[in-house]
Amino acid sequence: MNPTLILYASRDGQAKLIAQRVQQHLTQQAVHSELADLKSPPNMAKNWQAIIVVASIRYGRHHAEVQQFFERNTLLVPLAIISVSLNARKGDGTPNSYLKKLLAQHHLQPFTAMSVAGRLDYPRYGWFDRLMMRLIMKMTGGPSDGKCCVEYTNWQHVTEFASTVSRYIQQEQNPNTKPLSQFGA
Ligand SMILES: Cc1cc2nc3c(=O)[nH]c(=O)nc-3n(C[C@H](O)[C@H](O)[C@H](O)COP(=O)(O)O)c2cc1C
Repeated sequence: MNPTLILYASRDGQAKLIAQRVQQHLTQQAVHSELADLKSPPNMAKNWQAIIVVASIRYGRHHAEVQQFFERNTLLVPLAIISVSLNARKGDGTPNSYLKKLLAQHHLQPFTAMSVAGRLDYPRYGWFDRLMMRLIMKMTGGPSDGKCCVEYTNWQHVTEFASTVSRYIQQEQNPNTKPLSQFGA
């Protein structure tokens, strides 16, 4: 089986952590994968079994390298996406407006896509970002104490996402085992 490529776009590490968790799960399911930063993606001409993109949000947008990646590459292999934001802390995993926008902008049709909550880590931020995040949190009912640090990531959802990916990949290998209809985007 060809390896699956897991690409992450992260600034403070949470999207990378989520990508690593997905990789761990795939390894447990005997699905071989490679992990890479979207800032320096590997050879896209290689035969990948599937591509998983895990990307976080800053100021309402996925990072520039995410946009560039989808602009520069026409993906011919199955795609799965996780979008990481604090807005997603109020959701159930279904794609939020950030993720829907990304899918529409680049005409993407992943076999599965999820919005998952990230981490709020005021002590890490510079003064401007801290100020802005405190304002956003105040407006959206989150904690605004500039010393606080909260991980909102629903790891159960991450594991379920990884299971969907591994089942999809195994199904591709053995098309007679399970119907494709169980994989929703
Ligand atoms: C400067 C800054 C801007 C952010 N802007 C948004 C935003 O517009 N919407 C949102 O839902 N989350 C926003 N977040 C929250 C991040 O998406 C969240 O902290 C995520 O875990 C960051 O992922 P990373 O650690 O991989 O960079 C912002 C965080 C920072 C530090």
